[in-house]
Amino acid sequence: MATAARSVRDVDDLSAEELRTVLDRAASMKAGEGGRPLADRTLAMVFEKPSTRTRVSFETGMTQLGGHAVFLGPDDIGIGGREPVADIARTLSCYVDVVMARLFDHAHIEELAEYATVPVVNGLTDDAHPCQTLADLLTIRETLGGFDGEVAWVGDGNNVAQSFVLGCAMAGQSLTVATPSGYGIDDAVLDRAADLGEAPTVTDDPAAAVEGADAVYTDVWVSMGQEAEREEKLAAFEGFQVNADLLAGTDALVMHCLPAHRGEEVSADVIESERAVVWRQAENRLHAQKALLAWLLDA
Ligand code: CP
Ligand code: NVA
Repeated sequence: MATAARSVRDVDDLSAEELRTVLDRAASMKAGEGGRPLADRTLAMVFEKPSTRTRVSFETGMTQLGGHAVFLGPDDIGIGGREPVADIARTLSCYVDVVMARLFDHAHIEELAEYATVPVVNGLTDDAHPCQTLADLLTIRETLGGFDGEVAWVGDGNNVAQSFVLGCAMAGQSLTVATPSGYGIDDAVLDRAADLGEAPTVTDDPAAAVEGADAVYTDVWVSMGQEAEREEKLAAFEGFQVNADLLAGTDALVMHCLPAHRGEEVSADVIESERAVVWRQAENRLHAQKALLAWLLDA
């Protein structure tokens, strides 16, 4: 079913120019400009998985923009169970101006976007986390002064990593990705990155990846929904912890989307150190998403 609404299933649903526009608007909103452009507008927030940052930043963001957010948790909607995804999309479109959804199956965000007549924003799926990427790019621009530095991803080639790969390609940000063999970025995502700009350099050597890096980004090794793979993944990721040894010899900032598992993908001392920009990333979720919502609703 055709829809006129622009959706953000992943970050490359924006053009590189639109991405810049959203980041610029986020920066001006962060500086206190922008007013309340979404007065009387409503956001539906559909959650199949837990969240702290995504829920609170979207809900608070709508309040600050003059609008309202409705939280729909796993027991409220039962997406794909109690009711088909396409029916939920069409029903929510009757009431609200925009939908944000955090889902397991990426195909379900595609289907929501296909059937909704209002914009749909991906608040994380098993494959992508574009709102995190917006906040991360804003953070890199603020802390490194632009996208001319060197950034390394060390850890799992997961949802956060995949959107980050695409966002870096769109922004012209040089990126090296170090993952254990078998846990890399999907080939299709690497191909999309190459089409958008430049695919990242890919390695299985964390030390090589962080050499010369201005920022090193990691995320949990066991994502939501992967709990059964925990032991296998902890074994596979040995040597990939972002810790003082790995960072010795660099001045790299440390990025993490949070929540963090101290002692697994990152050491406690490193994430609590001056290097870490993780609270800035968390704060930037608010500004980036406010800008995205206002842009999507042409407000
Ligand atoms: N980074 C992030 O999306 O955090 P939450 O899972 O708490 O929303
Ligand atoms: N990769 C993590 C990100 C959480 C924000 C997960 O999917 O659980």
